Amino acid sequence: MPTFKYDGVEIPFEAGETIIQAAARQGIEIPHYCWHPGLSAPANCRMCLVEIMPAANQRAVTLDILEWDAALGDYKPAKKPKLQPACQMAAADGMDVRGDTSHHVKDARKQVQEFLLLNHPVDCPICDQSGECKLQDYWLEHGQYHKRMRDEPIHKPKAVEFGPTIVYDAERCVMCTRCIRFMDEVAQDPVLDMRERGNLNEIMVAPGRQLDGHYTFMTEHVCPVGALTTKDFRFKARVWFLRTADTVCQGCATGCSAHLDYDPRVNRAYRYRPRENAEVNKYWMCDEGMLTYRAAHEGRIIEPRIGSKVASEKKALAAAAAALEGAAAEHLAVVFSAQHSLEDNWALRELGVTLLGAKNLYVSGLPDGYEDKILIHRDKNPNTRGVAEIAADARPFADLLRDVGSGKITHVMALGGATPGVPEADAEVLRRAQVVTVAAHEGGLSLSARVVLPACSWAEASGTYVNFKRIRQVTEKALEPQGASAPGWEQLAHLGRAMGLDASWTRVKQIRAQLQAAAPAVTSARGAALPTTEVAQ
Ligand code: SF4
Ligand code: SF4
Ligand code: FES
Repeated sequence: MPTFKYDGVEIPFEAGETIIQAAARQGIEIPHYCWHPGLSAPANCRMCLVEIMPAANQRAVTLDILEWDAALGDYKPAKKPKLQPACQMAAADGMDVRGDTSHHVKDARKQVQEFLLLNHPVDCPICDQSGECKLQDYWLEHGQYHKRMRDEPIHKPKAVEFGPTIVYDAERCVMCTRCIRFMDEVAQDPVLDMRERGNLNEIMVAPGRQLDGHYTFMTEHVCPVGALTTKDFRFKARVWFLRTADTVCQGCATGCSAHLDYDPRVNRAYRYRPRENAEVNKYWMCDEGMLTYRAAHEGRIIEPRIGSKVASEKKALAAAAAALEGAAAEHLAVVFSAQHSLEDNWALRELGVTLLGAKNLYVSGLPDGYEDKILIHRDKNPNTRGVAEIAADARPFADLLRDVGSGKITHVMALGGATPGVPEADAEVLRRAQVVTVAAHEGGLSLSARVVLPACSWAEASGTYVNFKRIRQVTEKALEPQGASAPGWEQLAHLGRAMGLDASWTRVKQIRAQLQAAAPAVTSARGAALPTTEVAQ
């Protein structure tokens, strides 16, 4: 593999890669604003300038400048090397590139930083980007000058509503054009552009339009500063109080890799950010998916219930065991959930199929919805493929309604509550059977159940999800279990023991060992990395 040197460090690169890309893959961040690994490179911010030393047989490219001569007390003509943008300059074998080791580069970074902050408002105390802002980070790393400008800064529009989700602050904008390029190149809806020149420059929405669609949150995500904020996260939390767990979006069968940011002090999830995964979502997520973090708290079942009444765990388990007692295998239905993890579905199969001998298997989940060719899948469940691995012959939920209606099914052991909207007539049908469900979210099934046992959501328990491409990803536990909820697989073990069965699994590791043995051809567990160091947005 060809290599070049960056500050003396040997960096391998592939043909066509730029200096910044190859360095990023080696974990070296060359400071940048406008470059984003998933977008084109306009090289307009000039923060990534580097010095490329001329080879022995080359003439140095220089610029004529005036340099202050203290002894002379005047400026005198001088030359300085022409610095190059690392985001556009293709790497070449044997190249000697200088960044931190070049005083010309250090000066340039400092001056770009000073230039960008000339008219920047002192908004940090009230800015949502504070704590994860490239202007703050780079001022500390490459700026640290005393402000020289004494004039009133240029004032520009603040808190401009770009659409239903995004607010724009023109004074904070560094005109990197990432948001424009994202909407153009990824969302394929070129609704953003810029107007005016120089320090009057600002981002605008196309006349007659607003910034809407399925990918508006990503404009905020790519914005390196606090110019774009989402109405959802604005003024809700300070990022330095948040912790992050690697997780998987629950919005559809694409299963985008995500970071779930939560505040451990109040056990609350605040937002998602895309987690880079070359095999699944690259750098992006859709708006609907970005908002599914709310399901960590909304529509939750966190207390055991007998009928509609909250009960103690002991009483609910006894009632569940009694409801299912004596169920003949041929009249017992086992309902898997495309919304619960592989571990939860595995435990249900152990209990219902292996220990109780049920042969009537069904699967519940949310109905199909919108899809596109960018990310969004029409299947709105994160684990349909996982259920297919656990129970290939599980039939649709509509079949369960029919079989309960005909009297073929008299007892139901289920996972999940969020079935396709069960109309009242169908709920009446379900109430004819003895339904016990272990569920994290309320839905038609849980509302018609005799007994409901509360399960942890994906945010409170580590679980495995298999996306439509059969890629497995494991979520990390972020929140503490809410109310009396416990991991679904654990609730099912409790239920099994309450029924006097040998439900022997007590740890998630045991279940994973079994799953691994059953399906060893898994792909990535945490998601494949992309060649970038973009981490702080
Ligand atoms: S709003 Fe943000 S992403 Fe868009 S040009 Fe300004 S700084 Fe860049
Ligand atoms: S495409 Fe699907 S998995 Fe990805 S963010 Fe959207 S809803 Fe979530
Ligand atoms: S990152 Fe902006 S010019 Fe290279």
